[in-house]
Amino acid sequence: MRHILLSIALLLSLSATAATVKSPNGNIVLSFSVDQQGRPLYSMTYKGKAVVNPSHLGLELAKDKHASKGLKETDLMDGFQIKGEATSEFDETWQPVWGETRDIRNHYNEYVATLSQPSSQREIIIRFRVYDDGIGFRYEFPQQKELNYFLIQEERSEFAMAGDHTAWWLPGDYDTQEQETQETKLSEIRGRMQEAVNWGNSSVAVFSPTGVQTSLQMKSQDGLYINIHEAACADYATMHLELIDAETTALTTQLGGGSNAYTPNPKSSPYYSNLKPQTSARPEGALSSERNLKPFTFVSHLTPDATGLKGAMQTPCQTPWRTVMVSDDARDMLSSNLILNLNEPCALDDVSWIHPTKYCGVWWEMIVGRGSWHYTNDFPSIKLDQIDWQKVKPNGTHKANNENVKRYIDFAAENGLDEVLVEGWNVGWEDWANMWKRDVFDFVTPYPDFDIKMLNDYAHSKGVKLLMHHETSSSTQNYERHMEKAFQLMNKYGYDAVKTGYVGDIIPRGDHHYSQSMNNHYLYVVKEAAKHHIMVNAHEATRPTGLCRTYPNLVGNESARGTEYEAFGGSRPDHTCILPFTRLQGGPMDYTPGIFVTKLSEWSDNPSWARITIAGSLALYLTMYSPLQMAADLPENYAKFMDAFQFIKDVACDWDESIYLEAEPADYITVARKAKGTDNWFIGGKCDENGHKSIVRLDFLDKGRKYDCTIYADAKDAHYETNPQAYTITRKVVKQGDVLKLTEAPGGGFAVSLIAR
Ligand code: NOJ
Ligand code: CA
Repeated sequence: MRHILLSIALLLSLSATAATVKSPNGNIVLSFSVDQQGRPLYSMTYKGKAVVNPSHLGLELAKDKHASKGLKETDLMDGFQIKGEATSEFDETWQPVWGETRDIRNHYNEYVATLSQPSSQREIIIRFRVYDDGIGFRYEFPQQKELNYFLIQEERSEFAMAGDHTAWWLPGDYDTQEQETQETKLSEIRGRMQEAVNWGNSSVAVFSPTGVQTSLQMKSQDGLYINIHEAACADYATMHLELIDAETTALTTQLGGGSNAYTPNPKSSPYYSNLKPQTSARPEGALSSERNLKPFTFVSHLTPDATGLKGAMQTPCQTPWRTVMVSDDARDMLSSNLILNLNEPCALDDVSWIHPTKYCGVWWEMIVGRGSWHYTNDFPSIKLDQIDWQKVKPNGTHKANNENVKRYIDFAAENGLDEVLVEGWNVGWEDWANMWKRDVFDFVTPYPDFDIKMLNDYAHSKGVKLLMHHETSSSTQNYERHMEKAFQLMNKYGYDAVKTGYVGDIIPRGDHHYSQSMNNHYLYVVKEAAKHHIMVNAHEATRPTGLCRTYPNLVGNESARGTEYEAFGGSRPDHTCILPFTRLQGGPMDYTPGIFVTKLSEWSDNPSWARITIAGSLALYLTMYSPLQMAADLPENYAKFMDAFQFIKDVACDWDESIYLEAEPADYITVARKAKGTDNWFIGGKCDENGHKSIVRLDFLDKGRKYDCTIYADAKDAHYETNPQAYTITRKVVKQGDVLKLTEAPGGGFAVSLIAR
């Protein structure tokens, strides 16, 4: 149902200074005004509690010959007047191509302020959408005589928090998102920053001792869950947040980490210098015009490109939505569709070729170090056009070879997996990483031991597809030059999905992974792939912001610390109890779960180990929602636990309904999901290092119906470190109203399948 009302009197109460707009159920109230300096100011409450204290909005523009106003450019920060206001209500229900639920309701009240800046004769629009579970706002720049081309020095959207909240954060970094989440008070971020940075990643560019990434999950002392992120980030740089704390005297950028450290640092801002340290948060209440910011205020910080600038804009255009989600129930953070709703509807006419996919792959054995992507050890470096691959000496460790790939195809076919990822199939891996090498891969030439036709034919004959891999080594111009031919090759052999990768520093040199130009690249790949009916799963690309609603062939992203880190020293047991609150807000993650043999030294020389039990690994197929799910371990490791592997065979990865039963960031998540187009339910529970007891009431089952229930649980003595492979499998028949009592071991979890009779 779609229904728009223009009802200024109903929704908008105009006082002398501020307009207020309520969410449909009235829980969230947004206020907007312009202060005495003409700076836009907003605030937000939830059930009467402050969520965002009065916070300024605006953009600093660069004085640069490439802007229409050149060196005479002025800022879009102050001197504004409200020229017009409008409100409306919107309510529609739409169906995603794939997702956690069949139907998604998009219900909000909108407030639009048109602001004029008389000194520049410019107008901008700030649009707010107020939902029951949060707000979104964005800046819009209509085309006009005095605003055509402009360069963004920095966006200055503030989010003044009302207290020293607990935050689950990653260091703000222009080039990697593969850190472990830190859990600290806001006031402790600065002190923790140094140890929080993943200095060992192949590209690291941190910018501030208080810079953090979004999606940022917080919890206030009085129990509000608050999340700041963004939606629909297209043709714009990815946003970070810089916290003003008690020690901040100015917002400055100091690049650390060594990735593209050539990026010029921005000039200091007249709006954010000489900040006086303050000891308390700004009091709740009336909108304030004071200049000094109080601690616990986040200010947006965009990712620069090689110039150090943050965006090159041509009107008409707009920023992504800035989102603030809030609830007093952590489960609402996980079931919220606010970010998807703020994205545009599906842009593809035909989506029949897009499908949920379970896959395995020639992958983990290389990540762990038992095999190689590259084919020969005989060259210190290679030039793609100067090697006769038939003549080079194979190293004997190359895993994308015909025999090994067939083994995985057989395993997929025997176990109902849809596809087999093969990494290292194409020439160029001998010196692919960290050399800023432009012509690194051609994406069409297989190594001599990978018979692309035979292997695809073999897979198809068994009802399986191969899943393509395009590691770009961040040489994006190289990828764009080869992409059309690469996609044609995929079409020729029947591949319908590609995993892309962006390891290392970006070429064009000096650019960063999350800049406007790189975000344009990632989206270009998705759009070009759609023309070839190819689904995309991009690793190391920018964190998602719900663009998968518009382009549902974007079926996955990594964009966080995935399972590969279990082979690089491991991740904490609570890692997967945080990701759904943070990284997954913008879209699904190709987390590549399913490690059963967690102590890697059992089958390799790698001393690393995964901090999870087998039952916990099964739970991830439910708690880490994705339409693309990998069974990442080796076939021979699964062979030892086929009774547990049965759950991975059975579990769906597309859903009609999802009910979050329990949730607390970094502690536990329990979710029940109804498989798409069936009456079957699956339940997963995952917990941190402390273990967890779950009581699951099966109220959601159909009345009068019986279900064959299989429970995969941690055994009594299971433990992620000392006894990760101890599980029990229990079968019974259940009905609506029955109760399951489940005990999750430290670092463990459980998985349940409920097949309707
Ligand atoms: C990093 C990716 O995350 C990983 O999955 C992949 O195997 C390597 N890059 C090589 O492309
Ligand atoms: Ca990665």
